[in-house]
Amino acid sequence: MKNICRQIPMDNIVEGMILGSNIYDNLGNVLLAEGLVFTDVLIRRVQRMGLDNVPILYQVPNTNEKKLDFGNYDKKIISETVNKTKSILVQSMNKFRLNELPNFKELKAIVDEMINLILSSDEVVLSLAKLKDFDSYLMEHSINICLLSIVFGVKAGYNKKVLQELALGALLCDIGSLFIPSEILRKPSKLTEQEFEIIKSHSVFGYEAINNSTEIPKASLEAILYHHENEDGTGYPHKLCSKDIPDFAKIIRVIDVFDAMTSDRSYRDKICPYETVRFLLSNMGTKFDEDIVNQFVSIVGYYPTGLIVTLNSGQKGFIIRRNKRKPVVKILVDDKKIVRENHQVDLRREPSIFITNCKLNEL
Ligand SMILES: [Fe+2]
Repeated sequence: MKNICRQIPMDNIVEGMILGSNIYDNLGNVLLAEGLVFTDVLIRRVQRMGLDNVPILYQVPNTNEKKLDFGNYDKKIISETVNKTKSILVQSMNKFRLNELPNFKELKAIVDEMINLILSSDEVVLSLAKLKDFDSYLMEHSINICLLSIVFGVKAGYNKKVLQELALGALLCDIGSLFIPSEILRKPSKLTEQEFEIIKSHSVFGYEAINNSTEIPKASLEAILYHHENEDGTGYPHKLCSKDIPDFAKIIRVIDVFDAMTSDRSYRDKICPYETVRFLLSNMGTKFDEDIVNQFVSIVGYYPTGLIVTLNSGQKGFIIRRNKRKPVVKILVDDKKIVRENHQVDLRREPSIFITNCKLNEL
């Protein structure tokens, strides 16, 4: 095993996490030493220090290669893991069709492999943009959602147990679609109201099919059941409102829509990711959780032009040129004062500056 150190938001630190590097005071004295295990008392102490992020140690298996980075090598490793996931998922789907439970031990093991890979280098997944080497939409969609959910969870600082629960829920969220007639799933024209009602039952079908298993965590099960609930209570199956929707379901809701909209379907071509992000942002607070959309967009980028953004420098402005996660921002407010001259920040040239929040049309 090798150690990986990641900056984790203070709010997500839980007991049992290990401090990944020393924390110093202004004079260079060690306040907290690397290797300390977080307890309730230590968490409160660090909270009082006012840190936004804390370095946390994760253990991941060694690989034979020296380094994981943006090369062909990354693609090779991830495609091997994805192929393995695909074959295990095929077996699980076949069991589902026979009304049998999938092999959760194998599913958990493959999910752990994906988690370790992403902990080593989550950029690997994002660099692949979209996985397309699949013979079925359900397969492609399930694995994409799973990978993106893990990246989301890693950025949020979830520990490995929580990551596994989120990833399992994501991988199996649409498994109930196997019980929906394929003529409806693949219908090339608009669905009738009745057909749409049948499609909507996939979350309940998936939940009920594995509800009796003692091997699937409750949080993963809830994610499967509630991943189409909306913040404003207009979703399905139970029309839950924001406060009653579990976090995993909210996360998968956003990632599911992003992946579905940016994929080709039988009834429409894929939608540009910038337009998809615009759709997510324009439905914050109604369909989607605002914080989760903001966190997700900070991971995938695709900030559309015209978007109002706040930078970690405190400046506010709007995007005038797209460039995935590093757009050009025209600054309108700096140090709480209106900026009248043409001041632009190109985030490609300013590695320490990043977008902390974005909204479609509010300054
Ligand atoms: Fe779904």
